[in-house]
Amino acid sequence: MSGSSNSAEVPQFLPLKDRKIVLGVSGSIAAYKAADLASKLVQAGAQVDVILTESAQEFIGKSTFAALTHRPVTTGLWEANSPLAIDHVSLAIEADCVVVAPATANTLAKLALGLSDDALGATVLATSAPIIVAPAMDANMYASDAVQQNVATLRDRGVTVAEPGEGRLASGLIGKGRMQEPSQIAGLARKVIGRSGDYAGRKVVVSAGGTQEPLDPVRYISNRSSGKMGYALAEAARDRGADVTLVTAPTALEAPAGISVVPAATVASMRESVMSASAYADLLVMAAAISDFSPAEVAPEKIKKDESGLTLELAKNEDWMPLVTGRKLVKVAFAAETGDAAAKAADKVASKGAVFTVANDVSEAGSGFGTDTNRVTFVDASGNTEPMPLMDKLAVAHAILDRALPHLI
Ligand SMILES: Cc1cc2nc3c(=O)[nH]c(=O)nc-3n(C[C@H](O)[C@H](O)[C@H](O)COP(=O)(O)O)c2cc1C
Repeated sequence: MSGSSNSAEVPQFLPLKDRKIVLGVSGSIAAYKAADLASKLVQAGAQVDVILTESAQEFIGKSTFAALTHRPVTTGLWEANSPLAIDHVSLAIEADCVVVAPATANTLAKLALGLSDDALGATVLATSAPIIVAPAMDANMYASDAVQQNVATLRDRGVTVAEPGEGRLASGLIGKGRMQEPSQIAGLARKVIGRSGDYAGRKVVVSAGGTQEPLDPVRYISNRSSGKMGYALAEAARDRGADVTLVTAPTALEAPAGISVVPAATVASMRESVMSASAYADLLVMAAAISDFSPAEVAPEKIKKDESGLTLELAKNEDWMPLVTGRKLVKVAFAAETGDAAAKAADKVASKGAVFTVANDVSEAGSGFGTDTNRVTFVDASGNTEPMPLMDKLAVAHAILDRALPHLI
């Protein structure tokens, strides 16, 4: 766990603080996206050392990466001012993770064979850190037996492959070969770096977002939950080595990398998905805002405009969190309240079978729905309260995981 300040008021939690990442860039048209990746890794707190292959320099210059990373950029084994000139494996040894993005067909072949005739090949061979490759190429090239075999060889050796996406390629063809999005590759870097963290071997289920209860085929009743707290929890657990399932109502957020995402829009589908994911889980954190009421009836056709207005009958939904069980499941509840959230949350700890409740007053500025920060109070089964300061949601997520860990069986 780590943190640093980049905001006047609330310190932003930097998930890659003090981590050393080597970013190898090879000669693909997608090389420009590596600049975005370098920027994202630096913003997450990492120290990023970039190695460019000779071909990569035809697509993007070293000054771009030097400016983004504030570090010297390596372009060859024989460069006088490169860290490799003094010790050609220094970057490999110090790295917490080596990311090759984009990885060309040529570079994948070289890595699979173990060639070390350039700085990138030598670094990948000499490192004991986790390696991620993000292939990027024409769809036919990617589908070729040679590339597929090289990818399989690397995978067998424990390399994480950021699968390319499908879409329009630079060649004009549509197919599989687009480099994975930089945000996803950064998420995978967080995952592999944290793989032996204190949640390694643990299964964690997180529910997130606000459920949508249909009224008719085009309308629904929902709430203001953005899903940010649940997504931060899922990412924090992943970053500490957990195998994470995120059961999520529709949100505007990107699916996090390296997490199994289960969409569940309604209360009923969330109930079913949370129950089945929790059966063999160690921890369930219910961060979703689940509708307390649903329309008593769902109109089969769009409800027509009526001058006299519309009265809806709502039925109360059963609180099913107490019914979620697993062989060794530990549960953490959320209580989004307005007013004295902690007092209201105390009742919920026992009734939900949770080890503690995370209470937050969603009417407070900077707290609750839609914000990037949250002020929570932990309330345990004995009614003890632990108020926390206003924090970044990722920092809140880690504080929750810190407190849940000693309860795990
Ligand atoms: C305009 C252009 C775009 C290219 N894009 C790709 C690509 O997306 N993926 C790929 O595998 N090779 C691509 N290549 C071919 C590689 O640049 C070439 O195989 C080179 O030898 C790769 O060297 P490297 O792997 O050492 O960077 C492209 C070549 C050109 C001229």
